[in-house]
Amino acid sequence: MSSLVKALALAAMACVASMALAQGKSFPGIGRDATPKEVAAWDIDVRPDFKGLPAGSGSVAKGQEVWEGKCASCHGVFGESNQVFNPLVGGTTAEDIKTGRVATLMRPDYPGRTTMMKVSSISTLWDYINRAMPWAQPKSLSVEEVYAVTAYLLNLADVVPADFTLSNKNIGEVQNRLPNRNGMTTDHGLWPGKEIGKGKPDVAA
Ligand code: HEC
Repeated sequence: MSSLVKALALAAMACVASMALAQGKSFPGIGRDATPKEVAAWDIDVRPDFKGLPAGSGSVAKGQEVWEGKCASCHGVFGESNQVFNPLVGGTTAEDIKTGRVATLMRPDYPGRTTMMKVSSISTLWDYINRAMPWAQPKSLSVEEVYAVTAYLLNLADVVPADFTLSNKNIGEVQNRLPNRNGMTTDHGLWPGKEIGKGKPDVAA
């Protein structure tokens, strides 16, 4: 392209862009507003205060079925497999459920960190399973299946008993038994809030 043609093309593009800007945010004839249903399909996050959590429930027994059919092939029957990822369950104790802080995390000799050791909010577990698992069919689980399989994992970690049914009504109580519920900290240099500059970055330069 000659430099004259290039200059003309650039000028034309700038002209179109400024026309679009002059018309404000809308670009007539291009695109459309998302429908409420489309927004709802994306708006699935579940927050630590359980905002966004759909009402429903699922039992440990049902969760075992879901687990064996859709999860165990990758994560192991007891969530112990480290073939595709760190084990999901293991390394937590009855004492941790009391203190809310997983003592094993402080042991440099312990081999690996499981999901159940690290997770500090049950909403994270629910949200992640709901949006991302099973790995090859994300968002394919029903609300009941997500509650159930979350209950199953919590039962493997002795957080809830085998006859338990997890629901939107009792999930707050279960949160109060999560082994690492007191493990969250914002006291580090990577937290983008008022703490910045106070804590130290958690990596060495
Ligand atoms: C095809 C293999 C596969 C299947 C089946 C599968 N997962 Fe996973 N899962 C993975 C992989 C790989 C990761 C790590 C993903 C990453 O870090 O991006 C993962 C991560 C997870 C995590 C997060 C762990 C963490 O600490 O971040 C949870 C929880 C989980 N899976 C639960 C499930 C549940 C529940 C099911 C069944 C409904 C399931 N997975 C089915 C492969 C699988």
